[in-house]
Amino acid sequence: MAIHRAVYGLLLTTTILAFFVPFSTADPDNLQDFCNLKISRVNGFACKPTESVTTSDFFSKLLSTPGNTTTGVSITSANVLGFPGLNTLGVSLIRLDFAPRGIAAIHYHPRASEIIFVVEGTVNVGFVSTGRKLFLQTLNKGEVFVFPQGLVHFQRNIGDTPATVLAAFNSQLQGTVLIPQTLFASTPEIPDDFLANGLRIDTEAVQNIKKKF
Ligand SMILES: *[C@@H]1O[C@H](CO)[C@@H](O)[C@H](O)[C@H]1NC(C)=O
Repeated sequence: MAIHRAVYGLLLTTTILAFFVPFSTADPDNLQDFCNLKISRVNGFACKPTESVTTSDFFSKLLSTPGNTTTGVSITSANVLGFPGLNTLGVSLIRLDFAPRGIAAIHYHPRASEIIFVVEGTVNVGFVSTGRKLFLQTLNKGEVFVFPQGLVHFQRNIGDTPATVLAAFNSQLQGTVLIPQTLFASTPEIPDDFLANGLRIDTEAVQNIKKKF
């Protein structure tokens, strides 16, 4: 009986804790003002001693020039990898430059929601919920749209002129999973029969797709 009471007490405590322990859906809140490069590591990246941090550690020109849009779209990132001052701050930016009709292929970001602002042009964007509902929207210059964290999305320039989009993330390193590359160009490769089964095509068709990557 005493054992039963102990187990019951433990279950009750766990249930109560589950309701009241705070949880986080984004990068953890900052534990300090900043943690700028080198020496001790926080969030997997190193911090500079506070006394040697300068204004230039909070400045970046990474997004100042348009990228090369020969392949339809150019994606330029200002995240913690190229802009170490973002370490522990939970934010980052991407600049997307689209050629006319250019497409940012279907992908998702495992660690962040994404809010986009159309700097120039007209883009068509969409994401699919886990319930497989498609949310599709056309955006003009100055308009904003949001892709919730972890949901599959895409963007395309539907205009005959270049387009530029700025995307902000609530993560210093949002991560990008490109769906086609993940399926067909992993190392080592996903076995053909898994892809054939999942995509309801034969293994020859799988091999033909793999050759394109
Ligand atoms: C853009 O990229 C293409 C091929 O990737 C290259 O041929 C071209 O020279 C590049 N243009 C500029 C301005 O760098």
